[in-house]
Amino acid sequence: MAKMAASVVETGEDAFRKIFKFYKRRHPPPDFGDVIDFSKCVTNDKIVPVKLDPAAVSDGDAAKVGLHPVKDWRAFNLQGYPGFIFITNPFLRGSQPFWIRQCLKTYPLKPNVCNLDMHMSSADTQDIWAKSVPNLSFPSVGKREPRTLLERLRWVTLGYHYNWNSKTYSANHYTPFPTELHLLSSQIATACGFTGFNAEAGILNYYRSDSSLGIHVDESELDHSRPLLSFSFGQSAIFLLGGTHRQDAPTAMYMHSGDVMVMSGQSRLLYHAVPRIVPAHQEEALVESELRSWQGGAIVEQVSEEDWAVCSRYIRSSRINMTVRQVLGQGQSFPETPSLHQTEDEKNMKRRRYSDSPNIEETL
Ligand code: SIN
Repeated sequence: MAKMAASVVETGEDAFRKIFKFYKRRHPPPDFGDVIDFSKCVTNDKIVPVKLDPAAVSDGDAAKVGLHPVKDWRAFNLQGYPGFIFITNPFLRGSQPFWIRQCLKTYPLKPNVCNLDMHMSSADTQDIWAKSVPNLSFPSVGKREPRTLLERLRWVTLGYHYNWNSKTYSANHYTPFPTELHLLSSQIATACGFTGFNAEAGILNYYRSDSSLGIHVDESELDHSRPLLSFSFGQSAIFLLGGTHRQDAPTAMYMHSGDVMVMSGQSRLLYHAVPRIVPAHQEEALVESELRSWQGGAIVEQVSEEDWAVCSRYIRSSRINMTVRQVLGQGQSFPETPSLHQTEDEKNMKRRRYSDSPNIEETL
């Protein structure tokens, strides 16, 4: 019989790494029995339903960014993780295609930064979508290397562009944060009690079915009193939420398409990781047939059939995650302004360490 995750850990060791490897293992596949599935409505002593303030965001404002009224959201706290809020897919039927299209077509556009910039000119990565669409063949067949830029896209940064090398943000590497994503983020944050949330930086991760995201803490932002928001689209994932030490065994949970996670308070600086992408259930896969149920609105406009054909093929085998962060507290500024121009050494170092996947690992 397959072992459960809890049984692989002994006290004192790097429990997070052990459980990460447990869920990442292919042969034999792990037992997923311990993985919390918030979409299944089960509440127990660990999963606590939370009522968000339905008046915090008007129904009209929620609908503008493609969200159900807050009173209809299903939100949960996790026992032992104060400040962690999980909202199961609050998106109105038919609105996810817009956000998926933004992630694949709009957000990778220059001046935003992506992994492909590390070894290609900005002219070559200017419009990844336009360059890729005529030659797309995903889902990849067998072990074939992805050919198009869209298939090779692993991350995009928005707003204050995260520097993977120095693990910092800086005042002089900033481009305007997308307005509609700012609006979506501030409505989620407001509903969770964080009024005045200022979305200043975004990191988008693009996962193939064999990708994983290593164990880390998001601590580069200068104000940790502001929440970190996470939005998932496409295939599902196993997300591990640990403690402040690697010895703390993490809790495993599924993240399905449309799910939103808020890490705040004492849960803002916890270790976390994504050891595995898992196929979306039939209900979650419904996003594929959603297009025609959206009439379009001022912000979340209807995606063309042509664009959706590309997006839906992409998410059939991939997952997209957007994390949105406020970097600076009110009235706060960056401690120093690093040089605007990277030295050749810095460029080479980046190339070596982050040639294609900064923190997304294809294999362990
Ligand atoms: C992250 O921690 O940066 C992303 C997590 C995820 O992909 O769900």
